[in-house]
Order: sequence, then structure tokens, then C-alpha cells
Amino acid sequence: MALKEEPERRETAFYGRRKGHKLRARQADVFAELLPRLRIDPAMVTDPALLFPGKVTDVWLEIGFGGGEHLLAQALANPTIGFIGCEPFINGMAKLLSEIETRDITNIRLYDNDAMDLLGVLPEKSIGRAFLLYPDPWPKRRHNKRRFVSDESLTLLGRLIRPGGVFRFASDIDHYVGWTLVRAMRSGVFQWTAKEAVDWRLPWLDWPGTRYEAKAKREGRTPSYLTFKRQITAS
Ligand SMILES: C[S@@+](CC[C@H](N)C(=O)[O-])C[C@H]1O[C@@H](n2cnc3c(N)ncnc32)[C@H](O)[C@@H]1O
Repeated sequence: MALKEEPERRETAFYGRRKGHKLRARQADVFAELLPRLRIDPAMVTDPALLFPGKVTDVWLEIGFGGGEHLLAQALANPTIGFIGCEPFINGMAKLLSEIETRDITNIRLYDNDAMDLLGVLPEKSIGRAFLLYPDPWPKRRHNKRRFVSDESLTLLGRLIRPGGVFRFASDIDHYVGWTLVRAMRSGVFQWTAKEAVDWRLPWLDWPGTRYEAKAKREGRTPSYLTFKRQITAS
């Protein structure tokens, strides 16, 4: 019997788990007190640069930041950039919130639900750089369409990222890398910047690594790092 295919257009792009172990007392406190102050309301966003207390020179977006290692490192290294991080997994969000509080970071705003909610409402050309790092792989063929990368999500990202801006993607699953390349190419708005193998085999120069990447390497999988430029003129 043929398995029923899920449609590529979905009501949600979040199929993962929201909760892990019980939060420690301090994590529960920052979750309850700090998240409401930093949380973005998709219905209220006009210009994302105005979400931050000081003037920002650009806004960058990370989808599915997990434990927040990459987002934290980028926010510390780029204090004039405003960062939007999306992550529905409560424990990852609590971990990042603790760091934000301890280090008194002011250039991160957060969304604790499906990133597609934001992709649909952020204004056109309002983001300079987007990161999708080790998205859930959904390796079974019948689950491939649960992947965050789809024609629909790339169209929305192409609308958000300003011409000349960048979309970075990393994965340790070769099939997902190919899947993303095919969809980025046919989007007509993203150009893969690689010229030679080192360009996708080696991480970016400002790459701090992530928890998921460390696990993938321990388990013997080799990551690929794709950089796409948002074309100035879409084909
Ligand atoms: C495999 S983990 C990788 C986490 C992190 N980027 C890293 O490299 O360690 C994928 C993450 O994406 C998050 N995620 C999955 N679907 C999402 C969605 N629709 N919107 C936002 N985050 C999502 C999951 O909760 C999970 O934390």
C-alpha cells in the first residue's frame, strides 16, 4: 500500500519536542521573567530593527538555535547587530536565557515557537543574514517533507533577506544537503557561493560550533556548510 505523502505546504513546520528534563530553578525563573520581555509578538512586528534598545546596523535571524551556542557567540562578536532567535524547545530557550541574563546581552530577541510564523510576517528585505544550522533531519523518506527547508520556506526567506544578504545552512545529513541545494537553486533567488570543495567542507571563519555538530562528529558524520547569497535580481 502506498504511504500517504504529506503536502509540502504545511500548517506547521515544527514537529520536534518542546520539553526535555525539568528546568532547574534559575532556568525556570529566567524563562518566566526574562522571556516575556524579550519575546517577539509576530502580530506586532513592523521594523525588526526597532525591537532593540539601541540603534542596530542590521538584523540577523537564527532558526532552531538549539542550546544557543551559535547565536550567543554571534551576538557577542557582533554587538551592533540585532539578533532574532527562534526555538520552540523550552530547555534550549532556558539555557540561552540564562546566558543572556548572566552576560547582560541586549542585542537578542526571541521567538519560542515555529519560525515559519515569523518568516511570514517580518517585512520584506528586513534581514541581512539568516542561519539554519543542523535542522532536524527527518531521514525517513515519508518524513522528508517535515524538513524545515521547503520551496515555501525558501520563498519566504528569499522575501525577507535583502538582496546581497546571506543564508547559511549546515547539516551532517548528505540527503538533506542535496535536498536544500535543489530547492535553493530552483527558488530563483538564492545563489550558492561555493567555488571549490573547501567552501562547503570547512565551516565559516566565525563558526563557534554547536552542540548538535559536536554530537554528529562524535558519531562519525561529516558536516557540510552551504552559503547562499540572496541575488540582487531574482531570475
Ligand atoms: C537538530 S537541532 C539543532 C540545534 C542547533 N542548531 C545546533 O546545531 O545545535 C534542531 C532544532 O531546530 C528546532 N526546530 C525544529 N523545527 C523548528 C521550527 N519550525 N522553528 C524553529 N525551530 C525549530 C528544534 O527544536 C531543534 O532545537
